[in-house]
Amino acid sequence: GNSLSTFGAGKVILLGEHSVVYGHPALAGPLSQGVKARGVPAKKCQLVLPSTLSRAQRTLLLGAFNRAAKLVGEPPVKVSLDPELPLAVGLGSSAALSVACARMLLLAAGKAPSSKEAARLAWAMEQEFHGTPSGVDHTTSAEEQLLLYRKQPGASSVGKGKTVDSPRALKVVVALAGERSPTKKTVAALRQRQARWPERYQRIFKEMGKLASEGAKAVEAGDLEALGDAMNVNQGLLSALGLSSTPLEEMVYRLRSLGALGAKLTGAGGDGGAVVGLFTDPESAVVQLTRQGVRCFSSQLAGPRAL
Ligand code: PMV
Repeated sequence: GNSLSTFGAGKVILLGEHSVVYGHPALAGPLSQGVKARGVPAKKCQLVLPSTLSRAQRTLLLGAFNRAAKLVGEPPVKVSLDPELPLAVGLGSSAALSVACARMLLLAAGKAPSSKEAARLAWAMEQEFHGTPSGVDHTTSAEEQLLLYRKQPGASSVGKGKTVDSPRALKVVVALAGERSPTKKTVAALRQRQARWPERYQRIFKEMGKLASEGAKAVEAGDLEALGDAMNVNQGLLSALGLSSTPLEEMVYRLRSLGALGAKLTGAGGDGGAVVGLFTDPESAVVQLTRQGVRCFSSQLAGPRAL
């Protein structure tokens, strides 16, 4: 009858994670997979979570949801989630969830939320998850476009994304490797290293930002090889910053040997998590990886879609 449904897309960062936190641009696109939310009228705002989550994850999610509910609040809605993405592995599932919930709360309040409004409310939730997020995750999720994103100076404002048009289909394989460390922890450890050796780290952040800008230009020019090369160089720099690990490196090389034009970790990195590879034919890579027991899927981030 009067149940509502909303969606928040997952995201993948092609270039510039971490350096985006320090004000440099990042290139990120939406996944077709995301988090679905269903809402029904209720006596008070309530979030029903999948039973697979740990106690700590539940506490975090409920805290974030309650913060957003307080901002919108009326009329109350009971929200249940249906995640199509593995939660907490660096695919922007927290942002996807935030966007799905934000859209639901706004919709229940009788608004047809624009992507900007959804992003603004999702931002309040993201701050609970990440502490000082750059905003790239929830902005990409809400806009559902390939974006060259830059954080605004000042921690309290959301950044801006510029749409990047792709004349070619931009197809990726996302594969999971090892156990992932929490984003907050990886970001904090990097902050300590860069505080100790600021010039060395700033040089690398700046270079990562350049790769993101160059990557966006390569996309617009339809030069997937140039984009792939930028991804490979970015992986080397992420590794230099201490953000990679054996499981991530092994998966990067596996994707390259399966024909990736470029492959790198995506998201926070650390002990494990997600790896992204750029492919012209992602399906055959997915078949082979799946046969080898790797959790993976393909997605198109931008460009013309086959009918
Ligand atoms: O939480 P993840 O794995 O999607 O990573 C977020 C990307 C970072 O650049 C590492 C953090 C941020 O706030 O942009």
